[in-house]
Amino acid sequence: MIKSIILTLCVILITFCFSWFIFAVKPLENLDKNNINAEILWKIINTEDNYRKYSFWPDHKGMQPGRAPHGPYHKIYINDIIRNVIPISNKTIPEGGIIVKESFDIDKEFVSISVMAKVKDCNPSNNDWFWAQYSTDGKAQTSGKIMNCINCHKAFKKNDFVMFHRLDK
Ligand code: HEC
Repeated sequence: MIKSIILTLCVILITFCFSWFIFAVKPLENLDKNNINAEILWKIINTEDNYRKYSFWPDHKGMQPGRAPHGPYHKIYINDIIRNVIPISNKTIPEGGIIVKESFDIDKEFVSISVMAKVKDCNPSNNDWFWAQYSTDGKAQTSGKIMNCINCHKAFKKNDFVMFHRLDK
């Protein structure tokens, strides 16, 4: 009797250890330069993850006033890959880092979602960011190496194209 209880406990423990291992090391398998696209990125931030459970920058939490072209208010979320390494002394966000920005109009109505995802080798001359913009229901308005996004964010190239929040602080 005692033997079988111990055995059951062992099986539960081993299963638990394995499932923990699988979930803990699960990489963002689709965040790869060979298959990244707007739909896959949307799936990653909404199905694999729930970006609304991501963190905010420590000094930029919740809804904040924003600037053109993104609208008067925003919320900026950062995934754990970024959260776990800030402050970043070399100001380079690691592969797999994702920043999601929700934009709101003057009445604080949710209007669009802009995303920057670090995808190794997807655009080496501009720090390997994959850019995407969606309507609130997930329809991609633009995505990829978008020069419009890059040219404006380039002003902050030394901060890895990130406008809000100094990465080394
Ligand atoms: C004319 C300049 C300009 C253009 C074009 C632009 N952005 Fe931005 N972006 C900003 C500014 C300014 C911020 C800071 C937040 C704010 O004021 O809304 C920002 C913030 C962001 C953020 C939050 C991370 C950060 O840098 O602080 C994301 C994500 C983002 N933009 C994505 C995009 C995408 C995707 C595009 C192209 C579809 C784009 N941006 C085009 C100016 C621009």
